[in-house]
Parts: sequence; C-alpha cells; structure tokens
Amino acid sequence: MTDATLRRRLEKLQSILDVAKAMTAERRLDRLLGLVVDEAAKVAEADRCTIFIADRERGELWSKVAHGSGEIRIPLGAGIAGAVAATGETIRIDDAYSDARFNPDVDRASGYRTRNILTVPMRNTKGEVVGVLQALNRRDGAFTAEDEELLGALAGPAASAIENAVLNAEIERLFEGFVQASVVAIEQRDPTTAGHSGRVAVLTCGLARAVEKAPPPAWRGVSFDAAALQQLRYAALLHDFGKVGVREHVLVKADKLHPHELELVRARFDLARATLENARLRARLEGRAEAALAEQARELDALWDVVVASNRPTVLPAEASARLRDAAARTFTDLRGEARPLLTPVELSSLSIPKGSLSDAERREIEGHVTHTFRFLSEIPWTRTLRRIPEIAHGHHEKLDGRGYPRGVPGPEIAIETRMMTISDIYDALTASDRPYKKAMPAEKALDILRDEAKRGQVDAPLLEVFVGAAVWRETVKG
Ligand SMILES: [Fe+2]
Ligand SMILES: [Fe+2]
Repeated sequence: MTDATLRRRLEKLQSILDVAKAMTAERRLDRLLGLVVDEAAKVAEADRCTIFIADRERGELWSKVAHGSGEIRIPLGAGIAGAVAATGETIRIDDAYSDARFNPDVDRASGYRTRNILTVPMRNTKGEVVGVLQALNRRDGAFTAEDEELLGALAGPAASAIENAVLNAEIERLFEGFVQASVVAIEQRDPTTAGHSGRVAVLTCGLARAVEKAPPPAWRGVSFDAAALQQLRYAALLHDFGKVGVREHVLVKADKLHPHELELVRARFDLARATLENARLRARLEGRAEAALAEQARELDALWDVVVASNRPTVLPAEASARLRDAAARTFTDLRGEARPLLTPVELSSLSIPKGSLSDAERREIEGHVTHTFRFLSEIPWTRTLRRIPEIAHGHHEKLDGRGYPRGVPGPEIAIETRMMTISDIYDALTASDRPYKKAMPAEKALDILRDEAKRGQVDAPLLEVFVGAAVWRETVKG
C-alpha cells in the first residue's frame, strides 16, 4: 500500500467515525438517511447511492432517499437489493449488463446507465438485516474489496442510528395519538367546547412564531425551536384536560337552575295555581266574593315570569331580586292542606346569582379544572424538552396583576408561553359559537375586551399587539 492510498484510507475511516457520531445525534429519519447516503457515496467513491429500509411487516424494501429518484418500494428477495436483504450477503458486480442478477428495467425507466454495483447489508446489534446500502458506478473502475469493507463499516452504525430514529418516530407518533385521544376525552365531556383545545394550540403556536419573527421590545431575543414549539403545542392541547375532573352537570350548566330543578319549581307553581282555581270555583258555588282569589292567581303568574326571566344567565335586575325574595316568603296550600313555600332557600339562592349561571361553589368547582390539569400533567414523566408542559398549562387563568386563579401568582412569575396561551384561550372562549350560554362574539369585540384587559394590566399588552398586528387571531376563523 502506498503512502497516498494509506492516507486516503485513513481519511475515509476518520470520516466514517465523524459521520457515525453525527448519526447518533440525529433523530430525524429523513436527515439521517440523507447523511448516510452522502457518506456512503463519498466512502465508496460512487456516483450514486441508495439506502433501502426493510419493512418486514409488508415484506418490502423501501427507499425515500435515492440519488436521482424518489420513493421506491420493492419486494423482499427481488432484485439485487432484495437478495442482499433476504440473505444478508454482500453482492458486488463488476459489469452489470453481463450479470444475470441485474435487472436493466430501472435503467431503462430512468435513463441511467449502471456499470457496476456494490450492495451491502445493514445489520442491527442483534445481527438482523434492517436495510441495505447500495452504491452504483465507482468513479473510476469497479468497486474493490476495500470499498466493500469501508461501506460495511458505515453500515453498522447507520443501522443502529436508523433503528433508533424509527423507534423515536414511533414513540412520537404514539404520544401524539395519546394527546389527541385526551383532547377527544375532554371535548366529549363538554361537547359545547368542541375544537377549543385545537384552536388554542393553533393560536398559541401562531403567536409564538409571530413573536419570534418580530419580537416587541419587551420580548427581544425570544426564540422557539422545534422542541419548544412542540412543548407549547402539547401544553395548549392539554390545558383544559382537568375538566374531566369537574362534574358534568356543572360543566355544561347553561341556566341558574338545572333543568330538573326548574321542572320542580314549575310543578309547584302549577299546583299552587290549581289550588287557587279550586278555591275560586268553590267561592263562586258558595256565592262568596272571588275577586281576591283571582288577583292572587294573577300575582302567581307574574311571579312565575320573574322566575323564568331570573333563571337566564344575564345580569339580574335589583327589582327581580326583591320579587324573588318575596316569592320565597310566600306559601301555598297543597292538596293535603299543608302550607309549602313557593321557592326553597336553595332555589332562591340559585336564582339570585347576580351574573352568569353558576353559584360560587359551582364557579369554584369549574375553576378547579386548572388544578386538575396541573395534577394530571404532573403525573406524566415528560422528556427533557417537554418537562415544562405542566407549568405552562397551570397558569392559563392567571392574570398579570395577580388576580387570576387558582394561585393568583404575580406577573413576573408568569412565563411568556403561558401569557401567549392566556390571550389565545380568552380570544377563543369569547368567539366560539358553540357554548349554549354564550353567543358567538365578533372578532373585533373580542379583541376590544382583550385590549381592555391589557390596559388594566391583566394580559400581556406587547404580546396582544403581536396577536392583533400579525393577524394571528385570523388563523382559526371558520369558513
Ligand atoms: Fe381553562
Ligand atoms: Fe381553555
């Protein structure tokens, strides 16, 4: 061996070592395959290289990265690459067109002219063939035993790296599926918020990208790489997961009384009305005055109207509140002759909710979803790049002035990821048309409400400006 060939061999071995190191760090399969193919061509001094991966389930070899062509699929055992995959033996052909194993159809289809071929198996640590590395047309002459040896040296670490990348992709797919299934579970409990989690994820990640592109002075230098965006996306998809821990009738409560409660009140009013009517008819039969009884019946009807109006989750007028107390103080005589109140204390307190449909206890129970979310997410042994998911989701109802829930943490402790999610969450909750107790709000009005919150120092004003200025909010506009 001359000094020059020895030096070249050393250089190639060094290059294989370098690429092997790079391969172990590369988790993305596409990039990894590209890396292997380029290095294989360099090491074997080949014009073209192809890497085939064995798909044992389908009994096929497939290739995405082939110099000069797109995706290829061939049956295991067929052709030269298929034979190498099936037997695990290297095939080296000096003159393709004089070898019976060579199929010239591929050349005919591609217009390429294959002169010589070197195909080596790629084995994993268990010795199983997981793929095939194929080099075509050595730049000068035919492939040598040394090329075979060098390509073989590259094939080993390439096989391990590819196996890891495939496994990694499978785990990522598995996890993505798990997160999507969790979203389905949340939205099935509360069908009125269908699509909310997905839209909050789209808005939050859209805002992150917009902030990175043109950060406001307050957030100069922030950046979100692929892993950070994935962490943000999962946190957004799962932010309301804790709703599975809130009782369903509270979660979907539309009016102040639950439907069955309102039914009960109505039956009581009907009974009171019938009793009054009875008394009035008896008075007529007995020739007594009935006007007072007729007046009482009218009052009863008017009170029922107050109950129905108060039951809606709008702001309760002061005079309605007084009339409800009046109704609760009244009794009527039932069919057994017993005096009963028209409204129970519990019903009175529900109907007297000043705004919205929830009592204090129910509101606290719904607010508890954030704590449930945090507890659930903290149970998951997240990988290093996803470990902040529980923390990011935990703060989505906090306010920068410390008046949010559940912890009332002050602004400086609220991360930018959470601030972005809060803006997206409020925007989507306001504009969603699918809540029974809320009409869909036009985007402009929702943005005005957010601007008011920013002015009061509750949501992050510079981030909101990007949300509006970069039209992030348009990303979920329907239709
Ligand atoms: Fe929430
Ligand atoms: Fe939400």
